Amino acid sequence: MSFPADRPATWFVTGTSRGLGLELVRQLLRRGDQVAATTRSTERLVSALGDGVDTGRLLPLRVDLRDEEEVRQAVQRTTERFGGLDVVVNNAGYGFLAAVEETTARDVRDMLDVQVVGVWNVLRATLPILRRQRGGHVVNVSSVLGLTAMPGWGLYCAGKFALEGLTEALAGEVGGFGVGVTLVEPGYFRTDFLTRDSLALPTETTDAYPALREMTENHLKLQGTQLGDPVKGAEAIIGRVVGGGGGPLRQLLGSDAHAYATAKVEALRENLDATAETAGATDFAA
Ligand SMILES: NC(=O)c1ccc[n+]([C@@H]2O[C@H](COP(=O)([O-])OP(=O)(O)OC[C@H]3O[C@@H](n4cnc5c(N)ncnc54)[C@H](OP(=O)(O)O)[C@@H]3O)[C@@H](O)[C@H]2O)c1
Repeated sequence: MSFPADRPATWFVTGTSRGLGLELVRQLLRRGDQVAATTRSTERLVSALGDGVDTGRLLPLRVDLRDEEEVRQAVQRTTERFGGLDVVVNNAGYGFLAAVEETTARDVRDMLDVQVVGVWNVLRATLPILRRQRGGHVVNVSSVLGLTAMPGWGLYCAGKFALEGLTEALAGEVGGFGVGVTLVEPGYFRTDFLTRDSLALPTETTDAYPALREMTENHLKLQGTQLGDPVKGAEAIIGRVVGGGGGPLRQLLGSDAHAYATAKVEALRENLDATAETAGATDFAA
């Protein structure tokens, strides 16, 4: 994908009133780009941006990402206001910390509605535009927990692993149309992610998992000390797209993310080696 150099680019970013999404909006407006920013609260977004940011090229959109029609209308308003669309950033997401057996069907549906159905709604509404113009970029914000899973993060990982699968497939489908795809995999970043405003917890717990309760307490205490700087994270995401979107599909952010991902790849290699001979035993005889 070649990034427009002769005019401001138009970005559609989800989940923008806090954290990484807010920082992306801030930096994109500072660059002089045009930003359609979806949020559940445009008041929170505008007040978080503050007075120092020129919002002349901002289209704040209150959107329930789970609602396909609302998403479609938001994309339509974006192209009407800015005359086109160049980059889509699926950023909205939240954490959930509980044992698998403590996670209700409602919890599962809520998570997948945002992290999978919501992303798919955005893709369905935006891909035809990018495909027809034979150019553009999709950035899906996953997590290193989209590559490797830890106890307590089962539901979050289920959502991010699903996002990784659909994104890998997508990259193969739209590359031929000149549409680039990036899968962003942050480690711990100092956003609101680990605050009680963002992190969801189970409604009922059992006493069988004291280590998970301790881990939850420790995660809440991590707030403010995470390794990742969201300003640098947003810079890295924007930099990759503005630079033409080349490079590998996965953009790991944070040395912690890189270390966890490396450990996963090594464990997977060991697993593959250990099953190399037995895997073929189920083949039909030649
Ligand atoms: N921070 C980390 O440690 C970390 C690590 C790996 C991956 N990530 C991923 O990075 C992305 C951004 O997270 P962040 O770190 O910036 O966290 P954050 O500060 O909590 O911001 C999350 C954003 O996602 C949106 N969001 C949260 N729950 C939502 C829901 N139920 N429905 C719709 N939108 C929702 C919010 O948008 P509105 O309130 O404006 O609607 C909010 O602006 C997420 O996809 C997250 O999974 C974060």
